[in-house]
This record gives sequence, C-alpha cells and structure tokens, in this order.
Amino acid sequence: MKRAVFNQKGGVGKTSITCNLAAAMAKLGKKVLVVDLDSQANSSKYLLGDRMERVESTIVDFFNSTLSFRLFQDSLMDCIYETEYPGLFVIPAHDSLKELQPKLEGRYKIFKLGEAIDVAREKLGFDEVLFDTPPALNFYSMSSLLAADRVLIPFDCDAFSEDAVDQVMIAVDEVSQDHRPDLHVEGIVINHYQSQAKLPRTTIERLINKGLPVLEPYLTSSVIMRESHSEGTPLPFYKPGHKLTQEFMTLAEKLINADHKQKAPTLPAAKAKREPSAEI
Ligand SMILES: Nc1ncnc2c1ncn2[C@@H]1O[C@H](COP(=O)(O)OP(=O)(O)OP(=O)(O)O)[C@@H](O)[C@H]1O
Ligand SMILES: [Mg+2]
Repeated sequence: MKRAVFNQKGGVGKTSITCNLAAAMAKLGKKVLVVDLDSQANSSKYLLGDRMERVESTIVDFFNSTLSFRLFQDSLMDCIYETEYPGLFVIPAHDSLKELQPKLEGRYKIFKLGEAIDVAREKLGFDEVLFDTPPALNFYSMSSLLAADRVLIPFDCDAFSEDAVDQVMIAVDEVSQDHRPDLHVEGIVINHYQSQAKLPRTTIERLINKGLPVLEPYLTSSVIMRESHSEGTPLPFYKPGHKLTQEFMTLAEKLINADHKQKAPTLPAAKAKREPSAEI
C-alpha cells in the first residue's frame, strides 16, 4: 500500500510517524520505502544519520529529470538508499526542493512521482511506501496525494489541529473526485497523547462524533521520541520495549492487516450462499 502522511499544520508528527511506522513495518518483515518530500529533509536525516552527508542523488534529481528528456523513472531508482535497518529504504530530500517548486508547477509535472513510484515498486518489490510531506498543501504534498492509495493524518490533540484536519479532508476529497477515485483517508493518527489530560480526550471525542476515522492505538507523548531523533535511530530499533514503540508496532500491524484484507480474494456472494440448483 502507498500511504501519504499529511497534515499542512507544522510539527504535528508527520516525520516521526512516517519513519517509525516504516521502521515498525520493516521490523514486521515488510520491504518498506520512505519518500521524503520535505525540504527540511528530517526523515532522510533520521533514517540515514551521518550517511546523509554522502548521499549523491536525492528526490531533487528525480524532479529535475522530469523537466528534461532524461528517463525520469530511472532517475528515481538512482536515489533509493538502503538504510542500516533491514528492509527499510529511503529516497532522501534536499533543501533545494524549495527553489525547484515554481519550475515544476509551471510545467505540470504533478503526476510524475506517482508514475515513477509504481515502476520502482514493481521492479524492487516494495510492500509498503510511505510519503513524508511538507507542512503545506503545495506541489510536493499534492504529488504525494496523487501517488498514494491512502492518507494518514497526524493529529496532535491541539485545538487548531481540528481545522487543519477538515482542510486535509477537503483536499483529499477533491483529489479523489478529480483524479483518484480509490484515494481516501485511512485514518487520523492521534499523536502527543496524554492519557491523564482531559483536553486531548474531549478533542478526540469531537473527531469521533463528527464521524472521522480515528485510528488506535493513540501515540503517547514521550521524551523518548526526541531522544530517538537525536540518536538518529527509529524507536523499533532504539527502544523496542518502550510503550510508544509498542504503540507504533500495533498500529503498523493493523495497517498491514488492512492491506491483506484489501487484497484477499472475496468469494462471490452468489457462490458463498449458493442454494442447491434447481437443475441438479
Ligand atoms: N509522540 C511524541 N512524543 C513526544 N514528542 C514528539 C512525538 N511526536 C513528535 N514529537 C516531537 O515533535 C516535534 C515535531 O515532530 P515532527 O518533526 O515529526 O513533526 P512534523 O509534522 O514532521 O513537523 P514539520 O511540519 O516541521 O515537518 C519533534 O521535535 C518530535 O521529536
Ligand atoms: Mg516533518
């Protein structure tokens, strides 16, 4: 499955959720690709650590190739890096994504990422693809929505985040109606959850009462997240026994199971309930 982790509100946990879910999925035996589409390149640094300084090709080279006659699918393959965690791969971002954006917008290149990801997935056999997005509804986040099957919306239990969720829902609806009928919001991922505090609970209840798909488990707020960022090691490989890590593992497992259900061949209703035929 290809999932965009998107919320245009900054600091809600897009990068933390993308990388830790990806690491959890890899730990569960899946082949996983993280695509970093944010010029801050935080996912790239988190997953590649010091190797980030030696990276030669980034997603910028791919987008540049879409502007030239170079075969753009091949150029995406060139910027896939294996991390030190088995089964986990990343396409790193770079600060120069910012300067490139107006050129890409002017040349209608918004579908190219999706096309190239499908080719890479087919050739390299990724089970799961996760897009980390910038805190804005811009060319790069739109490219990810056009490339993805599902959207995960991180939610940080803050009052302003409710408006942000509504805006993401509208954006996804529009992309789905205009271009990708199968695209939908798989769920809202509750982050920075504090079970002792009343405000997060009431905010989450409001989302549920609106009929929004809130995923469980909720991700606890813990200092271990910052520690794992500064160590450059995602939680499943940093503190496997920690409560927050376990929450990521459970969520990853649920998402993987949802993929299987999606793929499972369903028995045709007529066959399942078939009455003895009159002709027999
Ligand atoms: N569950 C958590 N508990 C504690 N701190 C967290 C948690 N999730 C994220 N953080 C911290 O919150 C900050 C923002 O997280 P993160 O960078 O993942 O958000 P983001 O949505 O990707 O931000 P941006 O919009 O800038 O890309 C980071 O310092 C991160 O360590
Ligand atoms: Mg981020």
